[in-house]
Amino acid sequence: MSTAPVTVTVTGAAGQIGYALLFRIASGQLLGADVPVKLNLLEIPQGMKAAQGTAMELDDCAFPLLAGVDIFDDPTAAFDGVNIGLLVGARPRGPGMERGDLLAANGGIFGPQGQAINAGAADDVRVLVVGNPANTNALIASAHAPDVPADRFNAMMRLDHNRALAQLAAKTGTPVSEIRKVAIWGNHSAKQYPDIAHATIGGRPAVDAVGDEAWVSDEFVPTVAKRGAAIIEARGASSAASAANAAIEHVHDWVNGTPEGDWTSVALPSDGSYGVPEGLVSSFPAVSKDGAWEIVQGLDIAAGAREKIDASVAELAEERDAVRELGLL
Ligand code: NAD
Ligand code: LMR
Repeated sequence: MSTAPVTVTVTGAAGQIGYALLFRIASGQLLGADVPVKLNLLEIPQGMKAAQGTAMELDDCAFPLLAGVDIFDDPTAAFDGVNIGLLVGARPRGPGMERGDLLAANGGIFGPQGQAINAGAADDVRVLVVGNPANTNALIASAHAPDVPADRFNAMMRLDHNRALAQLAAKTGTPVSEIRKVAIWGNHSAKQYPDIAHATIGGRPAVDAVGDEAWVSDEFVPTVAKRGAAIIEARGASSAASAANAAIEHVHDWVNGTPEGDWTSVALPSDGSYGVPEGLVSSFPAVSKDGAWEIVQGLDIAAGAREKIDASVAELAEERDAVRELGLL
């Protein structure tokens, strides 16, 4: 293989998302079937043995694209030369917990990881934060990496986006592939705003194809926004395979571009678009061009949607203030 391998660092590699993610990365689904990858797995000392087991299984798959696997419990070493960082390692919430409960527990992880990325990452580094509360953790990591452009730090909203597509497909009996331009706004929390105002289903406006305003406000929006809790309730553990799938799709589109005529949902540092205060890592509809996200501009936001977006953004501002108080920013 002539191309140099892309270094992908996955934190929380021994966790349930890590297990659903690593084999797909190594098989070429993250970056493409012709791109060799080198995997760096970061764990805490207690997770090292399980990570070694996962690395043995990766070996046993004999993936042609896998150029090597190294395991670390030191962020500085794990992020040295990293091109793609998937920041998954964090404590998941259990039944009855809100994501905000994780702020203090998980915020402390992302400062040191941001510093390690700042110290050693490759110039083209792209970082996707999955560990919750993902938006604010991305803010913390980015704040500790002053030499890396802030827009290289994303938080994952693709799972929420995909959940919205699935609900619309089921409601209208339309294949997911026929649904375009769904948007998730705000925070990856129960206060997010899944928005179909600009979406189309089979070429028709989604609102017409659904034809049921009450379903949108009373079923669709809360089902998507609270799906994480519903999965925890049903599985006794938070989503893993669907989260890993979303991470793969997010990075794949970031690097390779979004399909023509569609957009996706990405939490990135606001540039002030749609009145979201600059710097908050908030979800917007976005397209990827030449390896960088562009927020879709010029969408009309109705008064009801504005209120919901503002509420979600206010929650992000509260989280930012809380981690600032805790000395994490
Ligand atoms: P898990 O408990 O199965 O695995 C987490 C792993 O992270 C463990 O192996 C743990 O040892 C490791 N870890 C903890 N601190 C670490 C650190 N400082 N450095 C490296 N590794 C560390 O959890 P999971 O189910 O894989 O979920 C991981 C995170 O992803 C949770 O915060 C969860 O809430 C979040 N999540 C986010 C989304 C999303 O859409 N953004 C979806 C699902 C889950
Ligand atoms: C999800 O949305 O499934 C994850 O963020 C897990 C959670 O805590 O909801």
